[in-house]
Order: sequence, then C-alpha cells, then structure tokens
Amino acid sequence: MMQSQKFRFVVLEGCEGSGKTTQFERIKAKFPNGVFFREPGGTEFAEKEMRRLLLSSPYSADLTPYECMGLFFTGRSHNIRTFVMPAQTKNQPVFTDRFDGSSFAYQLYGMEGKNLLDHFESSRKAMGPTDCLPTLYIILDVSPEVGMARVKKRYEAKGEMNHFDSRGPEFHARVREGYQEFAKRYPDKVAVIDAQQSVEKVWSDIEVVLDKHFSA
Ligand code: TYD
Repeated sequence: MMQSQKFRFVVLEGCEGSGKTTQFERIKAKFPNGVFFREPGGTEFAEKEMRRLLLSSPYSADLTPYECMGLFFTGRSHNIRTFVMPAQTKNQPVFTDRFDGSSFAYQLYGMEGKNLLDHFESSRKAMGPTDCLPTLYIILDVSPEVGMARVKKRYEAKGEMNHFDSRGPEFHARVREGYQEFAKRYPDKVAVIDAQQSVEKVWSDIEVVLDKHFSA
C-alpha cells in the first residue's frame, strides 16, 4: 500500500459491543509505524486518573452530560499534546480507539445533552491546534440489541461493566442515533461500517476505507 506524506489521524468509534477492540488490534498490526491510544485513557494521567473517574468511581455515577464532557475533553487535550502533535511532526499516522465522536454520541445523544452542541464544537476547536484534528472517523454500527447481547457475554466471561455499559437499551439506541447524526454532520470525514457482519467482513470493509484514506 502506498502511503502519502499527508498527516493521518484515524479514529475508530462505535457503540458498546461493536467489536471495536478486536478491529483496533488489527489496525495496530497493519500500521507498525503508527502511534496508538484509546479514550478514555491514553496518557498516564488519562489512563490512571480520568478513566477511573469517568468509568467506575462511585462519585461520578450521577455526573451531568456537561460535567462528563468537560472531563473527557480534558483527557483528550492531554492526548493531543502527548501523542498527536509529536506524531504530526514526525509524520507518523495516529490511531485512537474512541475520540470526540464518542462525546457527541454519548454525552449529546445518549445522555441527552443536545444543548451542548455549541460547547462541543468550541471544545474540539480549543483542545489543540485544529490541524491536529482527526482526518477520518470509522464508525462501527451495531443495533443496541446485538451490541448489548455481546456486552452481556463479555460481562459473564470477564465481569467487565462500566457506568455507560449498564444503562438501558434506550440509552444505547440514542448513542447509535448520535453516531448517525455525527456521520451526517461530518460526511467527508466519516465512514460507517455495518458491524453486525462477521469479524472478517468488518475487517475487510475497514481495510478498504483505510487504504483509500492513506492513498488519497
Ligand atoms: P471502555 O471500557 O473503554 O470500553 P469500550 O470503548 O470498549 O466501550 O468504555 C468507555 C466508555 O466511555 C464507553 O461506554 C463510552 C464512554 N465514553 C463517553 O461517554 N464519552 C467519551 O467522550 C468517550 C471517549 C467515551
């Protein structure tokens, strides 16, 4: 595959149980020269402090969408200056498992904070240089029924469940709608992939999108 010299910053997004983690591992294997992180998490500060605060602390279970969004963007800004800006200087491609598309889908739609749209837009412009924003978002689309059934299986196998996983099916339906709206809002930056297909088919769809993006 030909890689051009343009800066590339790719985000993998999706609802609970969309198979994001499995596909992100494949992206890692495909781009040995890439810089990778995940959200919530990334830098040590975001991985150790923000992640616990946002996903499992008993004190954060009732945060408002505004309060959550501020915290997610704080970790994000830390990731931009720690990972994205240096990678851009070295012309290394950057990949993250979730980014601001998650704030749009979960805080504005899932948590019903649509009044935060302007705040979302200004936060994404203020968190770092605007030429460090993602160049491509890949959204793995899955219905709440299929997604939650996969989460339940994971929970039974590993006992993993966070503040967002444990919300009801209406919440997850709104998150999915949020991603659809995100795709409409940034059509030239977003590719939506049907994640109810087999892992192999999802991966081949992702590869098509990545190859196109990296050779453009
Ligand atoms: P995590 O345990 O990292 O798992 P996964 O990415 O596989 O779902 O869960 C992160 C949770 O945080 C997930 O439920 C989505 C939520 N989230 C937001 O609500 N807003 C955000 O901006 C981000 C990055 C994540």
